[in-house]
Amino acid sequence: MKFIRSEIIGHGHYAPAKVLTNDDMAKIVETSDEWITTRTGIKSRHIVENELNSDLSYQAAKMALKTAGISAEELDVVILATVTPDNTTPATAIKVATMLGAKPGTPAMDVSAACSGFVYALTVADNMIRLGQAKTALVIGAETLSRITDWTDRNTCVLFGDGAGAVILRAREGNGDSQDTGILSTKIYSDGSHYDTLRTTGGVSSTQTAGFVTMDGKEVFKYAINSLAQAAEETMKIADVKIEEIDWLLPHQANIRIIEGVGKKLELPEEKVVVNLADHGNTSAASIPLALSEKMAAGVIKKGDLVVLTAMGAGFTWGGAVVRL
Ligand code: ACO
Repeated sequence: MKFIRSEIIGHGHYAPAKVLTNDDMAKIVETSDEWITTRTGIKSRHIVENELNSDLSYQAAKMALKTAGISAEELDVVILATVTPDNTTPATAIKVATMLGAKPGTPAMDVSAACSGFVYALTVADNMIRLGQAKTALVIGAETLSRITDWTDRNTCVLFGDGAGAVILRAREGNGDSQDTGILSTKIYSDGSHYDTLRTTGGVSSTQTAGFVTMDGKEVFKYAINSLAQAAEETMKIADVKIEEIDWLLPHQANIRIIEGVGKKLELPEEKVVVNLADHGNTSAASIPLALSEKMAAGVIKKGDLVVLTAMGAGFTWGGAVVRL
């Protein structure tokens, strides 16, 4: 029987030119390079000046189309994961699809699941492809978190950055087993009992403003390691792959201590865990595709590698995916 898989045929990433180092942060709030480095692993972050989310998305998507060797006219759907869209409505994905030159009529939507957004968007696109509703999908994760950062709050402002990453998915036939190329499994979760633990201080319906990010860092930290590990374990089980077969674990880039904790819990050697947060900080929905594309462009992650993606964020939401590139 014919089994449809979604293969990642292109990848792209983009970060704005302006960089704020930890020493720059120390000029804005009472902090130090030593505190930020030891508590988070972050050394610097990229920050937008005049660019919008759509500009970051466009650049990442353009690179993804180029590496895939296809034109925007071939896209059947565009999905953008973000919590920092250009406007509250319409969805930024619609603007990006038109900027890229997608055919008029191409469906486009934003997905809001905070730091898990890319995994959620990938899940939606994968299911559309497997159902035959799309052959080629563009999935982007992009954020301008600096726009919802309280630059007087040292508890949060040192953590976040701006950026974008994107992948092109295309339907291909597989056997339906763990040796297939493409997305082998996805699983997404949420638990609203943690709604207030990590959120913005405002929103359209509540305050008619976007608000600023606020969180109970310790609570998030505790939950993050378990949920990231759970999503990785369950998606590997669904895909029928064992931890020894995994080439790379690519966790959401929030904090080096969280990332190391997940690696240890899964008993994965350190060198198989992808880390790029020193240069970017936490870029929420952009974090996973940005790291994936950077490492693929550098030749570190290669075609044929078996990768586990795992993410967790506000909501709480969390989720994972197992992909053979
Ligand atoms: N510079 C200097 N001191 C600081 C800073 C800072 N930037 N921020 C906080 N402090 C102080 C605190 O005020 C506190 O001081 P006090 O003891 O006098 O009150 C002290 O440092 C210790 O603070 P803790 O909260 O205990 O520090 P902790 O080791 O828990 O680290 C952190 C804080 C980095 C936020 C950690 O809890 C964390 O990473 N949590 C996960 C949160 C996260 O990554 N959220 C992102 C979104 S969710 C996600 O992506 C999964």
